[in-house]
Amino acid sequence: MTAKKRNILVTSALPYANGDIHIGHLVEYLQTDIWVRFQKLRGHNCRYFCADDTHGTAITISARKKGITEEEFIAGVSRSHQADFAAFGIEFDNYGSTNSPETRRFCEEIWSAIRKAGLVEEREIKQLYDPVAQTFLADRFVKGTCPKCGRTGQYGDSCDCGAVYSPTDLIDPVSTLSNTTPELRSATHLFVEIERCHEFLEDWVANSGALQPEVVNYLKGQFLSDALWPWDVSRPAPYFGFEIPDSPGNYWYVWFDAPIGYMGSTLQWCRKSGEDVNFWWKNPETEIHHFIGKDICYFHTLFWPAMLKSAGYTLPTKVHIHGFLTVNGEKMSKSRGTFILARTYLNHLNPSYLRYFFATKTSPRVDDLDLNFEEMEARINADLVGNIVNLASRSAKFASVTGLGDTYPEDGGLFRKAADLSEEIAAAYEERDYGKALRYILECGYRANKFFEDAAPWTIRKELEAAGGDANPDAFRRLQDVATVSVNLFRQIIVYLTPILPDLTRQSEELLGCRITSWSDASEPLLGKKIGTYKHMMTRVPKEGIEAMIEETKNLNTPSGAEQPPASSEEAAPASEAAVSDDQWKDSGQPLLDEPMSETITIDDFLKVDLRVGRIVEAEQVAEARKLLKLKISLGGSETRQVFAGIKAAYPEPEKLIGRLVVFVANLQPRKMKFGLSEGMVVASGPGGPDVFLTFPDEGAKPGMRLH
Ligand code: MSP
Ligand code: ZN
Repeated sequence: MTAKKRNILVTSALPYANGDIHIGHLVEYLQTDIWVRFQKLRGHNCRYFCADDTHGTAITISARKKGITEEEFIAGVSRSHQADFAAFGIEFDNYGSTNSPETRRFCEEIWSAIRKAGLVEEREIKQLYDPVAQTFLADRFVKGTCPKCGRTGQYGDSCDCGAVYSPTDLIDPVSTLSNTTPELRSATHLFVEIERCHEFLEDWVANSGALQPEVVNYLKGQFLSDALWPWDVSRPAPYFGFEIPDSPGNYWYVWFDAPIGYMGSTLQWCRKSGEDVNFWWKNPETEIHHFIGKDICYFHTLFWPAMLKSAGYTLPTKVHIHGFLTVNGEKMSKSRGTFILARTYLNHLNPSYLRYFFATKTSPRVDDLDLNFEEMEARINADLVGNIVNLASRSAKFASVTGLGDTYPEDGGLFRKAADLSEEIAAAYEERDYGKALRYILECGYRANKFFEDAAPWTIRKELEAAGGDANPDAFRRLQDVATVSVNLFRQIIVYLTPILPDLTRQSEELLGCRITSWSDASEPLLGKKIGTYKHMMTRVPKEGIEAMIEETKNLNTPSGAEQPPASSEEAAPASEAAVSDDQWKDSGQPLLDEPMSETITIDDFLKVDLRVGRIVEAEQVAEARKLLKLKISLGGSETRQVFAGIKAAYPEPEKLIGRLVVFVANLQPRKMKFGLSEGMVVASGPGGPDVFLTFPDEGAKPGMRLH
């Protein structure tokens, strides 16, 4: 592999800041993360940028509901999005926000360029306005009677009967925000006359090679065969977004600044790392790759290239478009328990399962993909647990005794064969055909396991034992050869799997006592080394975990963003849609039975306990303690406390706790423990072991505040 080092900028679509990350989103972020990890492993100069998409009416409504400002609302969502992504091993080089000075800077620059290019026109438009909520209403916030068939309760843009219309055509329109009748108001909007870029777009779509063939056909057939409609890119105040500098009182529509957020996030990273943003966005030597879902195709393949072109920026090298996730063959649904949030998944299943299963389903085509739980279980149990992890555990058993030999033994060409697949597997990753890459990789696994079985090292070991340890150097040598071959065949597989299963790589590195840093590690055997003892790597998929996850989803009253309607040209549905009635909870009475209520106390009794909000500023494993994490809790200012908390099994990755607020028993008598002084307690619930749940204060609480 002597290929030249490429500069590759990669983005995933910016998730809306009005809802939680769900497994549908993860289709995209996981496939992008795999691609980026692959490119980095190949030694390319690759960076992955993303951000929250934070503007628009939906955000204002969600924030108002919680009684906080939009800024506070999006800050909370950003933290939770980032925590979800991190838990799935999705590693961005920068995760920003469209509501940033960096994004604003590029909006202004691109705006003045498209103004200069003569693409902007003003027009009066009539729109429904809700005087109670004091906002113009996007299509999705209006319901009424279909003008065509008379069905009631239809949205402002389309009816179940298939009719498509504008909200002003609805009979008896009602604002879903205030349940009042909206009025018709007119306002000036700014339009981008994208038709003036028709010729350029037609050429770019057909000839750039940036798009999948089915996408080219779709764009040609649906859009480019006709004049392109002017694009309404402004919204009158009040609107949460950036005010347009040369059109006071008007704001850029959320979809105008959203893709510009890719550049804003890049600039944020450049400022931190001393790089030049133009190296990434205005450089023919840099590739730009966008990963998006099919629902937002035309924003990225028509508007976005037109904007970039007009402002003199690099056009996308590739727009990788994927299909939608179905679960058990159907659209994700809350009532069926298949509208699964990232959080809910993590409560029950290992994130590596989903990384792997989605990878098996990833192809360069736009087709939808299905998550069938039985299939997922079968594949992971067979491919990962049965094939690959099994190879590690059985070969390490012998290798930890013999170590790896100094020369690579005769193996019938197996190592060579797997090394020769290197470029084919790489090409499959490059093409986003992870399913194909995995087929090659699994074959390597089958061959390696077969080698191991044929070599039957357990019989050699018997010979050795009969002879009393090292007294039979020939048998020892043969045993070491088998171990050396099978460990190396395993390591090759792990190199190839690294982009998909970084956790498995980390565990393997520990076992092998050697890091995997490059794709070419798969072509160099590891020799003359001691091997650690095998530690458990991955269990079979627990059926009850899947069931519990579905059950929890059914019972979840997702506060916002759930069941998002397909992203039309307008914002997503208001949060109120997701409300469910109280009897949906079905909470079990078991916890109270397990631990009955204590006797009554007075308020003074209660106030003796000084509960404070604390922030975890340090969290680490206590190597010698089976159950404990060592935490440093800040109570604000310079007040800190050290505590040892028995939460290790529930929070195996302590670094993820850093920064979180907890409830802290601040006036508990300090206790001397084997490992040091414990100066208080963090409040948690649950029976113990992995079932311990820390209590986190709501948004807005500050370290040092007393609970009462
Ligand atoms: N905010 C816009 C994107 C702006 S990009 C400049 C948006 N956000 S989203 O949260 O609705 O979706 C983010 C990404 O997740 C999109 O690419 C979307 O296609 C993808 N998916 C959301 N739900 C999905 C499935 N159920 N299945 C597969 N991908 C899905 O769109
Ligand atoms: Zn109708």
